[in-house]
Amino acid sequence: MPAKTSRRKSRRIAPPAAAAVRSKRQAPRPRPVAASRNGHATAAGRNGGQARAQRQTVTLTDNRTGKSYELPIRDGTIDAIGLRQVKTGSDDFGLMSYDPAFTNTASCRSAITYIDGDRGILEYRGYPIEQLAEKSTYLETAYLLVHGELPTPRELEQWTHDIKYSTMVHENIKKFIDGFNYDAHPMGMLIGTVGAFSTYYPDARHIDDPASRELQTWRLIAKMPTIAAFAYRHSRGLPFVYPDNDLSFTGNFLSMLWKMSEAKYTPEPVLERAMQVLFILHADHEQNCSANAMRSVGSSRPDPYSATAAAAAALYGPLHGGANEEVLRMLELIGDKKRVPEFIKKFKKGEGRLMGFGHRVYKNYDPRAKIIKRTADEVFDLTGRNPLLDIALELERIALEDDYFVSRKLYPNVDFYSGIIYQALGFPVEMFPVLFAIPRTAGWIAQWREMITDPEQKIARPRQIYTGARGRKYQAIAKRPKSAANHLDDHQHRAVRLAPMPFASGAADSSARF
Ligand SMILES: CC(C)(COP(=O)(O)OP(=O)(O)OC[C@H]1O[C@@H](n2cnc3c(N)ncnc32)[C@H](O)[C@@H]1OP(=O)(O)O)[C@@H](O)C(=O)NCCC(=O)NCCS
Repeated sequence: MPAKTSRRKSRRIAPPAAAAVRSKRQAPRPRPVAASRNGHATAAGRNGGQARAQRQTVTLTDNRTGKSYELPIRDGTIDAIGLRQVKTGSDDFGLMSYDPAFTNTASCRSAITYIDGDRGILEYRGYPIEQLAEKSTYLETAYLLVHGELPTPRELEQWTHDIKYSTMVHENIKKFIDGFNYDAHPMGMLIGTVGAFSTYYPDARHIDDPASRELQTWRLIAKMPTIAAFAYRHSRGLPFVYPDNDLSFTGNFLSMLWKMSEAKYTPEPVLERAMQVLFILHADHEQNCSANAMRSVGSSRPDPYSATAAAAAALYGPLHGGANEEVLRMLELIGDKKRVPEFIKKFKKGEGRLMGFGHRVYKNYDPRAKIIKRTADEVFDLTGRNPLLDIALELERIALEDDYFVSRKLYPNVDFYSGIIYQALGFPVEMFPVLFAIPRTAGWIAQWREMITDPEQKIARPRQIYTGARGRKYQAIAKRPKSAANHLDDHQHRAVRLAPMPFASGAADSSARF
C-alpha cells in the first residue's frame, strides 16, 4: 500500500517530529519567507529570524489547502519523500518532485569525489586533482578512490601485485572478440566483452561478500586495458599481445597496443607518463551519466561486470565519453583556423554544438582541461605539434570572448584537448571513448562499492508523470483506424532498409543489415 510505504520511508529518511504536518489550527502560520537575490529562501520573521534560520528546516505552504509543512534540511537538501505528505485529501498520492535529468537531485551520499563547479575544483577523497596528476600514478589513485586513503608502500605493493596478476583474460575471450565484425567500433566490443565477463566469473554474484567485491575490483581494473587493446588489435587485423607484468599499468597497455615483432616493448617514458596523467584525470567524476548507470543498474544487484557494461554504454554517448571523439571530428571538419568564426556562428545558432565545451556541473574552466593542456605541450615536444591544436586554441580564444558562451558559462571541458593528445599518440578516434572507459573503471567500481554498502540505498526506481491514455477498449486488428503513431510510410520504410551503414572505417555496407 502506497500510504504505508510512504510512512515507513519518511520515518527512515526524515525524522517525523521535524517533518510533521502542521495545519492552520494546530500551529501558528509560518513566518513570511522572502527570497534572497540568489533565489534561496531567507528567513524574514519579525522576531527570531536568526533562530529560525538555525532550525535547518524549510516551510512549505500548499496554497490548495492552506496547510503548511515543515521539512528538515539535511546537507542542503530536503528528502523528496517528505513531499509526499503534501496532499489535498486522503486519496491524493501526494506531491512528487519532477527532475527529468537529475539537474537538481542528489541521488546518494558519497565520500569519493568532490566537485565545486563554480570554482573549478575537483578532488578525489579530498586530494586536489592537480596534486594527484603531478605526483601520483593511476594505480595509486585507483586505490585511493576505491579504499578512501592513499596506500602505504606495503599496501601499494600488494595492490599493484593483485592487479597485475589479474591482467590476463580467459583464452575464449580472444574467440569472443574475434567474433566481432572487422570494423566493429572498439567501444561496442569493450561493452560486449566486459558484459561477457559475468559468464566467466559467476562468483561475482556474491556482491555482499567483501572479499568477492575486492577480487572483482582487481579483475575489472586489470582486464579493461587487456580487452581494450584486444579490441584495437582486432580492428587492425593484428595478433593479440598478452600483458607484460614487468611494465607499469600504462606501459603494459601501450605494449599490448603497439608491440610488433620485437621481443620486448619499451614504452617511451614521456608517453607512459602522459597516459598516467590522462588516466588519473579520467578516473572518477562523481554522479555523471555513467556513474549513475553503474549505481542504477547495480542497485538491482547483478554482478559488477553487468553493471560496468551498462556504465560503459552510458559513457559511449557523444554527450559523455564519446565527446572527445566528436571534438576531433569537429576540429577536422573545421580544418583551418580561419574558419573558426564561421563555425562559432553556427554553434550559436544551434547548428551543432561546440563539442568539448560546457558541462552540467562546471560553470568555470574544467580543472582537468588545464592539466591536459600542459600535458599536450610535453607530448608534442616529442611527437611534433598536432595541427588541430591551433584550431582548438583559436576556438577557445574566440568562444571565451563571445557573450553566448560567457553568459552560459560554457568553458572547455576535459574532452576538448584530450583527443588531440590521443591523436598525437597514434590512436584512431574510435579508441577515444575506450581510453576514457579504462581509467573510469576505478571510479565506477568505487561508486558501486559505496552504493552496495550504503544502508540508505535501494533499487533505483524513479516515478513518472503519466501522460498517456487510460482505460481504452481493445479493438480487433481489422477494425482499427490507421494509427497516427505509425510514422514511416512505405517509401520511408524502404529507404531505411536500404540506407548504407556508416561504419567506423567509413565503409558503407548495406548487405550486413538483416
Ligand atoms: C555537457 C552538456 C551535455 C551539458 O548539458 P546541460 O547541462 O544539459 O546544458 P544545456 O544543454 O541545457 O545547455 C545550456 C545552454 O547552453 C547551450 N550549450 C551547452 N553546451 C553547448 C555547446 N557545447 N555548444 C553550444 N551551446 C551549448 C545550450 O544550447 C543551452 O542554450 P540555451 O539556454 O539558449 O538553450 C552540454 O554542455 C554539451 O552538450 N556539451 C558538448 C558535449 C560535451 O563536450 N560533452 C562532454 C562533457 S564532459
